[in-house]
Amino acid sequence: MKVVGGSTSVLLAKGLASELSAGYVEVAFERHPGGFPDGERYVRLLGSVTGEHVILVQTTYPDPMIVELFLLADAIRDAGARRVTAIVPYFGYGRQDKRFLEGEAVSAKTLAKHIAVDCDELVTMTIHNPELLKTFPIPAHEVSGMPALGRHLKSSNMDFLLAPDDNAVRFVKEVSQITATPWDYLQKERIDSYTVRITPKKLAVKGKSVAIVDDVISTGGTIATAAKELRSQGARRVIAACVHGLFVDNAEGNLKACDDVIATDTIQSPHAKVSVAPEFAAAIRALD
Ligand code: R5P
Repeated sequence: MKVVGGSTSVLLAKGLASELSAGYVEVAFERHPGGFPDGERYVRLLGSVTGEHVILVQTTYPDPMIVELFLLADAIRDAGARRVTAIVPYFGYGRQDKRFLEGEAVSAKTLAKHIAVDCDELVTMTIHNPELLKTFPIPAHEVSGMPALGRHLKSSNMDFLLAPDDNAVRFVKEVSQITATPWDYLQKERIDSYTVRITPKKLAVKGKSVAIVDDVISTGGTIATAAKELRSQGARRVIAACVHGLFVDNAEGNLKACDDVIATDTIQSPHAKVSVAPEFAAAIRALD
């Protein structure tokens, strides 16, 4: 078995190779220093993958990483790999999981279709709609990122967990099984891409250390709104915890409402303090 990492997932891929005691194949991402000035991606495998089961790790954010994923899968297949397993730690476009309006692309399916050209199976983490995976043209598995967050939050001695909306209830329940802490949730209404409104609710958080748990932090609007509510009800410490930290637009400003922000390394950022390499290693070991 060999592990190959796309340019945005090198650290996670190396961590996974170490967990699996597998060889890591380095990749050159530039042909000339500076790469292509127009931003086009370039890949060259620097080791052999002939006859190997290759684990290709590449997240899909930002968008050029999707092209890089396709280039790597193609290069690995052309180099004679026996089996290619794509680990897509963050599966972007997962929110467009159906045709809401006539004429739309079902973007999640589009991505899966193209991954299936050169990959035999797909493993991803905490996807928006896990049911979607059943419609993919290759076997596709979801791994939960919540155990990794749970491990971190348990060692941070949190008193209380909060789901910022009802979608996040399944996440907070899973984390609370690990941390053995009580939890509650808020009702959220999205006004626009940047603004959310929550229904006021009494929470048992006075003097408590509280972690807000969600799958994704994008603009940080959801977390900021929940954090303000927790502060107004007397929470002593507020931590934001997510699996996928996109941190777009004014996210850093919005997240000042929290004492700390933790994300996993499905997307690299200064907040990626928890590695999900053990979760992906277990998923790879469980493959047929
Ligand atoms: C929505 O259902 C997701 O679970 C997140 O709550 C959402 O993506 C967060 O977005 P933002 O950080 O922009 O509020």
